[in-house]
Amino acid sequence: MISIKNVNKWYGSFQVLTDCSTEVKKGEVVVVCGPSGSGKSTLIKCVNALEPFQQGDIVVDNTSIADPRTNLPKLRSRVGMVFQHFELFPHLSISENLTIAQVKVLGRSKDEAIEKGLKLLDRVGLLAHANKHPGQLSGGQQQRVAIARALAMDPVVMLFDEPTSALDPEMVNEVLDVMVQLAQEGMTMMCVTHEMGFARKVADRVIFMDAGQIVEDCPKQAFFGDVSQRSERAQQFLAKILQH
Ligand SMILES: Nc1ncnc2c1ncn2[C@@H]1O[C@H](COP(=O)(O)OP(=O)(O)OP(=O)(O)O)[C@@H](O)[C@H]1O
Ligand SMILES: [Mg+2]
Repeated sequence: MISIKNVNKWYGSFQVLTDCSTEVKKGEVVVVCGPSGSGKSTLIKCVNALEPFQQGDIVVDNTSIADPRTNLPKLRSRVGMVFQHFELFPHLSISENLTIAQVKVLGRSKDEAIEKGLKLLDRVGLLAHANKHPGQLSGGQQQRVAIARALAMDPVVMLFDEPTSALDPEMVNEVLDVMVQLAQEGMTMMCVTHEMGFARKVADRVIFMDAGQIVEDCPKQAFFGDVSQRSERAQQFLAKILQH
């Protein structure tokens, strides 16, 4: 579903991604982890064509991002993205947040969009909040709305960039629960997260990045298995995050 092929990207003279390659199959859940500044967000934004890259290619559901003939806005509309900060429209109600892109980008009728939006809101357990504004919801609730909003576009893949790292600890699980459910339903997902409990539970593979490179790309069992088989950099990182 996602094929990243030898991607190189520079910000000016600084190389932020170096020869990154990996594949995510349909229905697979891949967790991306690594130290701050290693290029995780940049890589995931390249998959959504939110960031351009200078070399290599990324193919999403048979559509090449590097191909100049590709309609990038159309591609983006099929790739769900959930960020650390929920980025809901603060001046719109929850129900309007869920419908606006369905109507404007996908051309759905308002009724159809509302029906779909409310169904997804129900799925993330927030139907009762449809007429509120984002500011009236907790961080965890807003993030669940952001996930529902992305799902309303019928994405072929879902990308997550540290969706729980800005949340108070007691709200992390309610968001992870929604993500676990999505994974178990067969959604293709690429998740930047340091929630290793989530990774252990639903990831098929774990990618470890360091200094713009994919240093490890292995099945979850191997990643969390015999640590001595991991690269030194991954071992150091795991030692830090698995202490608790
Ligand atoms: N717009 C930009 N211009 C220049 N450099 C950038 C830009 N965005 C990111 N960088 C640099 O690229 C590198 C990778 O950034 P990126 O945000 O992808 O890292 P990350 O792995 O997501 O880190 P974190 O865990 O802190 O979110 C960093 O060194 C960062 O400073
Ligand atoms: Mg990041």
